[in-house]
Amino acid sequence: MVPDLSINLGKTKLDNPVLTASGTFGYGEEFQEFVNLNRLGGIVTKSITPRPRIGNPPHRLVEVPGGMLNAIGLANVGVEKFISEKMPFLSELKCKVIVNVAGESINEYESVIARLAEVEDHFAGYEINLSCPNVKEGGLTFGKDAGQVFKITSALRKLTDKMLIIKLTPNVSDIGELGLAAQEAGGDVLSAINTFVGLAVNVEKRRPVLGNITGGFSGPALKSLALAKIWELKNTVSIPIIGIGGIFTHKDVLEFMLVGASAVQIGTANFVEPDVSQKIVGDLEKYCSGHQISQITELIGSLETRF
Ligand SMILES: Cc1cc2nc3c(=O)[nH]c(=O)nc-3n(C[C@H](O)[C@H](O)[C@H](O)COP(=O)(O)O)c2cc1C
Repeated sequence: MVPDLSINLGKTKLDNPVLTASGTFGYGEEFQEFVNLNRLGGIVTKSITPRPRIGNPPHRLVEVPGGMLNAIGLANVGVEKFISEKMPFLSELKCKVIVNVAGESINEYESVIARLAEVEDHFAGYEINLSCPNVKEGGLTFGKDAGQVFKITSALRKLTDKMLIIKLTPNVSDIGELGLAAQEAGGDVLSAINTFVGLAVNVEKRRPVLGNITGGFSGPALKSLALAKIWELKNTVSIPIIGIGGIFTHKDVLEFMLVGASAVQIGTANFVEPDVSQKIVGDLEKYCSGHQISQITELIGSLETRF
């Protein structure tokens, strides 16, 4: 029996639930020699802003126990270069391509979506980064406030019929409130989580390690924190959820799906093992075959909580 790994995110069907996470997989092209990209459920691009950004001063990455901190600061080529230099490659792919969008104001998010809407037809949808902890304006400033999440999601909903994924921050006391705001404003899907704010210290220099002082914590230690956030969202919203945070193996994917995620994104693991996403797809297939699971969707939200 060949198991059916396909899943639905609203109206969009993915061949399997494995996507790569924004900022950890470039624009896809960089990974083509390691990964058969068409084996993936989809690729999420680096966050795209209206103009190119060089990002934060160094150091921008540091390994810490259980994961790493990054303060890249949304370095990216900007929407025009994305269209001329990155889109041709992405448009040839058979897997789903999702463009992650960021900005410093609602206007900026709108301008990226409006510009992309003029030129592309291939992309499956947009992931709206309302959760970057490493920039002074935008990102987290919007993402922490349910009213702002509602406002920006409503504004973007008017500009596109494509799948709108709202990416949430875990740096709040009530992630459910944010998810609900995104759902009520017309978001199709939620993705969670972006990184937790963290800080690394160089004791000898009595300085922070990162140029930005704080950074976003990602990696294995994030998994159980992320699972709890997915659980909270699952109990609050009815739209599909993409689980992100510390996923390194197919077993991690299964945990997220049982808790309620319809799909997942692989982030920091790509830095450790560049072909891990493709490997996870194969391992999920083997797991489902070995456990007589004909459709992987039967796992979604099937966690048994009565003891
Ligand atoms: C180096 C790096 C850069 C990132 N850049 C972005 C970004 O541009 N946009 C975004 O939405 N998330 C970005 N993220 C967050 C990831 O997409 C993901 O939400 C987070 O790392 C948690 O997943 P993980 O533990 O599997 O890495 C970045 C993460 C890392 C490690």
